[in-house]
Amino acid sequence: MVKNAKPAKSGTTAKPGKRAPAAKAAKRAVAAQAPAAPSVAQKDKTVTLTDNTTGKSYTYKVLDGTIGPQVIDIRSLYADTGMFTYDPGFTSTGSCESQITYIDGDAGVLLYRGYPIEDIVEKCDFVDTCYLLLNGELPTGEEKKKFNYDITHHSMVHEQLAQFYRGFRRDAHPMAVMCGVVGGLAAFYHDSTDITDARQRTVASYRLIAKMPTIAAWAYKYSVGQPFVYPTNSMQFAENFLHMLFAVPAERYDVSPVFAKAMDRILILHADHEQNASTSTVRLAGSSDANPFACIAAGIASLWGPAHGGANEAVLKMLAEIGDKKNIPEFIKSVKEKKAKLMGFGHRVYKNFDPRAKVMARTCREVLDELGRHDDPMLALAVELEKIALNDQYFIDRKLYPNVDFYSGIIFRAMGIPVSMFTPLFAVARTVGWVSQWNEMISDPGKRIGRPRQLYNGSVVRKIGGAKK
Ligand code: CMC
Repeated sequence: MVKNAKPAKSGTTAKPGKRAPAAKAAKRAVAAQAPAAPSVAQKDKTVTLTDNTTGKSYTYKVLDGTIGPQVIDIRSLYADTGMFTYDPGFTSTGSCESQITYIDGDAGVLLYRGYPIEDIVEKCDFVDTCYLLLNGELPTGEEKKKFNYDITHHSMVHEQLAQFYRGFRRDAHPMAVMCGVVGGLAAFYHDSTDITDARQRTVASYRLIAKMPTIAAWAYKYSVGQPFVYPTNSMQFAENFLHMLFAVPAERYDVSPVFAKAMDRILILHADHEQNASTSTVRLAGSSDANPFACIAAGIASLWGPAHGGANEAVLKMLAEIGDKKNIPEFIKSVKEKKAKLMGFGHRVYKNFDPRAKVMARTCREVLDELGRHDDPMLALAVELEKIALNDQYFIDRKLYPNVDFYSGIIFRAMGIPVSMFTPLFAVARTVGWVSQWNEMISDPGKRIGRPRQLYNGSVVRKIGGAKK
């Protein structure tokens, strides 16, 4: 439940126009999480809203998080004033309280449970990251061993689920298949759909994290007419996923360690991202007490769009359409005329740079170097496009920077992953974020069904006239 008594932390967040270097800002952000007693002044912070038509004033509490902008608690606004707030796109609305992920978009900071993303990528693997997001702390050696075992031993799917795939056309988009198959999990795992039982919630969470790579890989195998490859318990998470994507029964397939490491890093970078569109969708779906499999299927549907997780696929299509460096100025012109979008650029929250994009660009170079393809024409085109856009006034004025999806597609392509699988890959990574946020919501004793209101602009009440039958 929200309380107006959180740790003191004034001056901890970089403000627009006063940007702190990311590492410094991240350090300050972490330091700011040490609990401290609230001052009287903090407890009493309020905002007063005056209705200029009636002259009446209403006072609302200001709530502090550990870091980040304060929020005005307007829960009684409608009861007090008879008015709703209006915020399409939720640009100024906090929809929940959360302890999982923090973003400072002005400073380019992303923290998972307080740890900067750059540190997690350096020091942890994806399984550590899953444990951290789910439980709030990094695992000890023993905890990791057990968690790894549990995840590994949930990676197979009910054999009958394999029959499901046959109902889809071979040329179906893998995201369409994933929406269907993940939603269908509720029909197979009845023993983990009681959301009031904490143990069942954990089992459902493990099942979703563990089975998602299998489901995604099989969506690909089905599309190319190859037999499904079953999970291998002796392999690490990312390695196992790549194995299920690329192995065939006819011959041995050894996953490249460089690819496995890059995939692990990509999974970490996409694991959670605060209250983004798909996560908010999962929370909203779950707020009605729907089962977790249905909620995650809703998240997958939202992720599919090109403004969200579908952007990695859209970037590759855009680069292919531009085709050559000499066509970049013409393309940029069309973006500025609003005839096209520079996919992989811009973000609702990041107005400086996306810290994930920096790691992604580095990973991209490492993978291409390993393959001896540092002169990859697609990478050269992307680098040039980025350079031109970052120096163009249109993008500078709007604070548009490359986001995580700008380079991820180039890495996937180099690994031999087909374009249609880019967004399913994002879904595999984001599942842990979705289930962590879903669990957090369900465990909150103050949870209520999500039910926004509207500014109604339709017809006023009218009568059906004439005798039309
Ligand atoms: N190319 C060209 N112009 C852009 C772009 C872009 N990629 N992104 C934003 N703008 C312009 C937009 O037209 C608007 O201009 P104006 O002020 O003249 O009307 C201004 O910048 C502000 O943009 P907005 O649309 O109000 O921003 P938003 O916060 O509503 O949208 C976004 C954020 C990510 C949907 C948008 O930047 C976008 O569509 N980017 C391309 C798709 C993309 O790469 N998405 C992946 C996001 S990161 C991965 C994830 O978490 O899903």
